[in-house]
Parts: sequence; structure tokens; C-alpha cells
Amino acid sequence: MTADFTTSPAQEIKRKIFVTTALPYANGKFHLGHMMEYIQADIWVRFQRMRGHEVHWVCADDTHGAPIMIAAEKAGKSPQDFVAEIAATRKEYLDGFHLSIDNWHSTDSPENVELAQDIYRKLRDFVRDGKPASFIERRSVEQFYDPVKGMFLPDRYIKGECPKCGTKDQYGDSCENCSAVYAPTDLKNPYSVLSGATPEMRSSEHFFFRLSDPQCVEFLREWTEGLDRHGKKRLQSEIIAKTKEWLGEDGKMGDWDISRDAPYFGIPLPDAPGKYFYVWLDAPVGYLASLKNYFDTGKAAKNGEPRSFEEFLKAEDTEQIHFIGKDIVYFHVLFWPAMLKYSGYKTPDNVNVHGFITVGGEKMSKSRGTGIDPLTYLKIGMNPEWLRYYIAAKLNSHVEDIDFTAEDFMARVNSDLIGKFVNIASRTAGFVHKHFAGELSPLAAETATISHAMVGAKASEVAALYESREFGKATRLIMDMADAVNLFYDTAKPWEMAKLAATDPQARFALLTTCSVVLESFRQLAILLTPIMPTLSTRAFEFLGVRQQCWSDITSSLPAQHVIHPYKHLMSRVEEKQLDELFGLLPDGTDKSAKTQPAQKGAASGTTSKKSAAPAPQPDATAKSGEFISIDDFAKVDLRIAKIVNAEHVEGSDKLLRLTLDVGEVDTLGQPRLRNVFSGIKSAYAPENLIGQFTVLVANLAPRKMKFGVSDGMVLAASAKDGNNAAGLYLLNPHTGATAGMKVT
Ligand code: 2FM
Ligand code: ZN
Repeated sequence: MTADFTTSPAQEIKRKIFVTTALPYANGKFHLGHMMEYIQADIWVRFQRMRGHEVHWVCADDTHGAPIMIAAEKAGKSPQDFVAEIAATRKEYLDGFHLSIDNWHSTDSPENVELAQDIYRKLRDFVRDGKPASFIERRSVEQFYDPVKGMFLPDRYIKGECPKCGTKDQYGDSCENCSAVYAPTDLKNPYSVLSGATPEMRSSEHFFFRLSDPQCVEFLREWTEGLDRHGKKRLQSEIIAKTKEWLGEDGKMGDWDISRDAPYFGIPLPDAPGKYFYVWLDAPVGYLASLKNYFDTGKAAKNGEPRSFEEFLKAEDTEQIHFIGKDIVYFHVLFWPAMLKYSGYKTPDNVNVHGFITVGGEKMSKSRGTGIDPLTYLKIGMNPEWLRYYIAAKLNSHVEDIDFTAEDFMARVNSDLIGKFVNIASRTAGFVHKHFAGELSPLAAETATISHAMVGAKASEVAALYESREFGKATRLIMDMADAVNLFYDTAKPWEMAKLAATDPQARFALLTTCSVVLESFRQLAILLTPIMPTLSTRAFEFLGVRQQCWSDITSSLPAQHVIHPYKHLMSRVEEKQLDELFGLLPDGTDKSAKTQPAQKGAASGTTSKKSAAPAPQPDATAKSGEFISIDDFAKVDLRIAKIVNAEHVEGSDKLLRLTLDVGEVDTLGQPRLRNVFSGIKSAYAPENLIGQFTVLVANLAPRKMKFGVSDGMVLAASAKDGNNAAGLYLLNPHTGATAGMKVT
């Protein structure tokens, strides 16, 4: 390695960083949202490691709390066995997506008991100016109690009638029908979801963390608005704005109820038999517990200087950095730093918050049939680095949601990774092997100078983007450089030089120089992509015949007359059929699971279960043959007047129109909720003629996952026998006066 280019900032002092990602509840498998957070953290961690910093990334299962206890009971298992089974599923995902977590532990562990109780004791025994100033206070709390289950009921296990509109079976916090917000004690005729029993009001002693302490509030104000050790804001600006709201101008901050009564799956309070820490008290302590386990078991020593957990955590230069989702900010930027501060532990340096990932614009939800299962993704042979790249390309440093769509995924991966990056090596290697037996130019410094002008010179810009979690911008910059390298190649036209190479020494020289510049550039691009694509870049380095590269290798170059290996396929393209498989679709774009139902096109036939679609014992299961449905059966179908607020063509479909319907619905925040419905009426209607029209929607049809998104209901149309014929398809249209949301009976 000869040439020296000062393309990266002067190497900082070796940072010592403790990274965490949110601890997932141990009552469900990972979903795409988990993978997004881990991929975000992994890219950042790999980047720091490539820069030579010492990074320890730990995570664990969040095992405690009433929901897990109840789920275990339902499954007929002990909570310990229940969470152990979930824990056993984690590795497949973590390895599968190349997530370089150093330690995976559990909040149901001796380390967590020790640390949670230690933090509690220190908060309890807090002394200020030589006087006791405990942060823990005991108060009596009135709460619903299930006399059959013999336990206090968390709010979500109480239902009843809405105090405002009387709708039955509403949760204890808000009404799904009228959006009223209330306390569980306001419900009429409350009942326990667990036993059906009428809950009783009982009082019990609870333990509170006095967050309202004026000094604590002042500390939180300073901490949330403060700078980190690098002089940057500790929190993102949108999070700071939120904390200002929460902390309020007048410093109103409620105390936090940190105890729960037995039976509870959790960590016992050391000084109060029958009381347990609320799960959110011991969950973040799990970060420290996992770190302690990692140090105590000797794993950390392989990854940095030998020292104890206590030494590492106490050290001034240890940075503590959390990655979390936007739904758990309150716990991490108020409760957690306060707990740490007043128990004498290190407070976090940064809490990096990300938004959610939606699929086709829909929030992921199992019950609605949306979402992508990460294990299915791996099992059907999709490349984990496609997803890593796609997520990286979408992420920025703000708290914004990102959306996964099949078309976008395929376009980005195929055009960027294959069309731009891999293409550089695949189109060049053949010339080098055919004409030069794999040997690159003797003029390494000269070729490297050109490469560095195209790629290496921007490495520090890319580094700054990785550092600030602007991964989308980093990928765009890298792909712009890949474009520049491809343009260099196309402009030089090596295929023309190759035709003359056998007889024309000048052409031969130009061919070698071009290929050497291009492959040196490829090496540099592979370095820049390594945090996102660790295995693709490893394969690239193997092909180039160089060891694993770190960030500073960007400033060096391939040696003179370096010999590369024969080109081996680096990465394949995403194929549409893989995405179909991922979404559980059949080749026609419909849902596999829906294939047992009658096709929903032309005249509506309603949704029939597998069972009722099976041959009936009667010779002809139609009304004609005398088999009727009851009025109760009919009442099950929720037919509503829908206003078509938008209609448009669906790219890639010759049958469907996408309809946006107003059915008079509002969400829990009182905002209008519009429905997305795909309808096979393209042959009969121009979308612009439908906008503003009214029609009839089957509003309670189970949402259907389709290639183009989720169809949330079905509009009704009359059809002749050949239902797809333009002449024979008529959307139902109510008489004038009907309005959106009216029930059709
Ligand atoms: O929201 C959740 O999924 C929690 N299990 C996150 C806990 S993060 C940390 F505090 F442990
Ligand atoms: Zn209501």
C-alpha cells in the first residue's frame, strides 16, 4: 500500500462506547420493526468499529410484567419457561441479519435483580446536604381488584361500557366508538377481562419515585437540553421539544408508581414483601445487567481492554448510547436518566430515537394481515443485506416513519446495489483476467489518485453522515460516487480498447489503467458500504485479494501489479416472485390465504370461510334450492355508504383501481380515517369519473393483503355472468341524499 491520502478526519482518541437497543418483550417473536432498529444500530456500531473505536453493544429480553405472566399462564407454562422459549428464537434473526450484538441477556437474571435493587436502595437512601432526601415515597392507591384471580388489574385488563356513549366492551382508557378518554373507574359495569368477574375497588400501598422533586425536574431540563461530550445536542430537536412539553414551564412532573402487588412476574422490592418493581423500572436496568453479564463472563475482554464492569461503567470516557423507537421516549429521557442520576450511575450520553416502519403505508399488525415476517424473508432465501441496504437508504437522523414497499425495495436494491455497485466489478474483472492474467497496473499511485478523486476524497463526508445516523444521505452519496465510476468506465470504453489490446500497446496500457482505476474505486466503495453490507464487502475484498479493510484503508491503495481473484458472483437481483412469496401472494397478486374464498371481482359474493366454501351436503347450496340465511347472518355484513374521495390506476395491474373511501370513520384521535380499497373495476370505469361518487362498501370484510397494499373492504358491483366484461360491470350507487358512513340495511 503506497499512496497516502488524507481523506478522513484525523483519527480521534479511541472512543469507548456502550450501545444498547430497546429490550424486546419476551412474549412475541421479532417483527420488521425490531429488525429496523437493530439494523440502524448495527450500521452505526460497525462504522464505529471500522474507525477503530471500542464498542460494546448489548441487548436482552424484557421478560417481566403482567402481560407476560398472564400469557404464560394461558399457555400453561411457568413465566420462566415461557420467556426462555421466546429467547431461544432470537439467535436465528440476529445471525440471519448479521447483527453484531455482543451480548444477549435477560431482565429475569441475577444481575438485573442485583442492579435494580441497588438502584432502588440508593434512591430510597438518598441524602442531600447531609439530610435524608429519599426519592422513594409510599402511598396508598385505590385500584380495581379481580376477586376471582386474586390480583390487582392493570388498566388493560378491565373493560366495560363507555361512560359517554354506552358502547359495550370498551377498554379502561378510551372508547373506540366515540373516542372519549376516561379512567378505568369511570367505566359502567366494569368487568375483568381475565375472569369476567366484577372488579372491586381495593387500596394497596404503592411505592413512588419522586420525579416531581424540583431538583430532579431541573436536572431533567438540563439533561434533556444539554450537549453531549462531542458538543452536539444529546437528544434530537423533536425529542427536546417533546420533553419541554412534558416537563412544562412550571415544572409539573408527576411522581412515578414503581411498584406492583403480587402476583406479579418481576423483581421483588428488597424491603417490602409481596411488592415487585413495575416492569418499566427493571427493563432499562436490563441494559446494565446485560453489560455486567458480558463483562463478568469474560466476553468483553475479547473486545477491548481487560477491566471490570464497574470500572468500565464508571470510567469518564465511557459513552452510553441508546437506540429506541418513538413509542418509549418518555421512559428513556425522563425516568431512566433520573433513576441513574440519583442512584449515582452514569447517565446516558445520547438517546437516539427512530420512527416506525410501515409496510405499503400500513402500520404493521398481525390481525390485519399486514407486515413482513423477517424469518420468512430469510427462509425464502432473500438476501439479508438487501433489507439492510433498503432500510439504510430510507433512514435519517430524525424521528420519521419509513415505509417498505415491494416496488421501491426492488428498484433500490436492483438499481443501486446491482446496477451501480456490483456492476463495477463484474464488468471490469473479465478484461483484467483475459488480458493481464489478473494483474493490475504497475502505476498504482497514479491510478489511485484518479480513484481517490472519484471516491476516497468524499470518505470524510460519508463518515460524518454515518456518525450522525444520516444513512439515507450516506447511501445516496456512495451511489453518486458509484455513478461517477461507471461514467468513467463508460467514457473510457474499455470494450473498444480490449479489441485492440492484443496488437496495440497503447490501447493495452489504457485498458489496464482504466480497469485498475475502476477496481481501486470499487475497493474504496466497498469500504464505504461495509457498515451496511458487511458480507457483500467481505466478498468484494476476497475478490480483490485484500484482507478485511477498515476505515483508514480508504487512504491507502492497492499495490502495484496487485493480482485480483477471478470474479465470483457477488450478489443477485431481487426478483418479483420473491417479493410475492414474502407477501404470501400468488402469481396473480392475490393473497394465498384468500384463495379458499370466492374471488372478489365483479358482483360481490361476500367472504366465505373455508368451511362454508366446501361442498355442502345439499345438491345446490343457493337460495333457489331453499337454503336461506337468517336475518342474523345478514346482519353480520356491515354495509356502508362510501364516498369515493379518490380513484386511481394501480401501477402494474390491468384489473384494479385504487379507491380511497370516506366511510364516515374517525380514528382514536378524532381524525378522519379513510379506507384504501382495491377494486377490479378498471375495465369498466375511468378513475376520474368515480371521484365524488357514492357507492356501497362491505366495511367489515377482513382486510386483504395484496401485492399493491392492503385492501380494507370491498365495494359492491352488479355484473353480468362474464363479470370482467366492461359492458357487464356496474358499481352500486345510492340515491341522492345518502351520505358517507350510513348503514345499508
Ligand atoms: O416497548 C418495549 O418493547 C419494551 N420492552 C422496551 C424496553 S426498553 C428498555 F427499557 F428495556
Ligand atoms: Zn363511547
